[in-house]
Amino acid sequence: MSQSTNITWHESGISKEQRRQQNNHHSFVLWFTGLSGSGKSTIANAVAKQLYNREIRNYVLDGDNIRFGLNKNLGFSVEDRTENIRRIGEVSKLFVDSGQVVLTAFISPFQEDRDQVRHILEESEFIEVYVDCPIEECEKRDPKGLYKKARSGEIKEFTGIDSPYERPQNPELVIKTGENSIEECANEVIVYLRSKNFI
Ligand SMILES: Nc1ncnc2c1ncn2[C@@H]1O[C@H](COP(=O)(O)OP(=O)(O)O)[C@@H](O)[C@H]1O
Ligand SMILES: [Mg+2]
Repeated sequence: MSQSTNITWHESGISKEQRRQQNNHHSFVLWFTGLSGSGKSTIANAVAKQLYNREIRNYVLDGDNIRFGLNKNLGFSVEDRTENIRRIGEVSKLFVDSGQVVLTAFISPFQEDRDQVRHILEESEFIEVYVDCPIEECEKRDPKGLYKKARSGEIKEFTGIDSPYERPQNPELVIKTGENSIEECANEVIVYLRSKNFI
């Protein structure tokens, strides 16, 4: 629902297609979703490095980093999580329009929120990557000590503990970080992108 009135879209003189042509590659979103500690940030950054080395313009939007700035007024209630993802979706769309690849690393626990982002993009522009890792393994890794805090009740509404995670119903890619190495997982993403001729 828009609250703005008297606004008119101003067309850019440079099209998305022209920007893609200049960059020499497709532009799209790699949307990493999964439990805290599943490896979203790790894999997104490993893939970004490989893309960079291939001279593919890209940028990682990472959960906590965005909450320091753009989304600093949002918490972890269901409403705020939805708004968090809506904003990231809109920012991602701007990146795609600018001809770049954007990699997002957000838990994004709700299917409907992820689908909303899918729907504001074109079909070849949204790649949902399920970073699949058993919660026991995520909890063992606990890279930020958050599971410990959630178990002790210090943090509320923690995904997988007292807030739900909805597994993607139809993701383009599933990567199993509990079974394969960081390098293998990142390579799987690159192989997928090459198979689609996106890079
Ligand atoms: N195969 C793997 N893929 C991704 N991360 C892994 C893997 N094996 C071990 N890890 C470790 O698991 C942790 C994942 O943390 P992180 O990427 O911050 O997760 P998230 O962003 O999903 O919360 C890191 O400490 C990483 O080194
Ligand atoms: Mg992360």
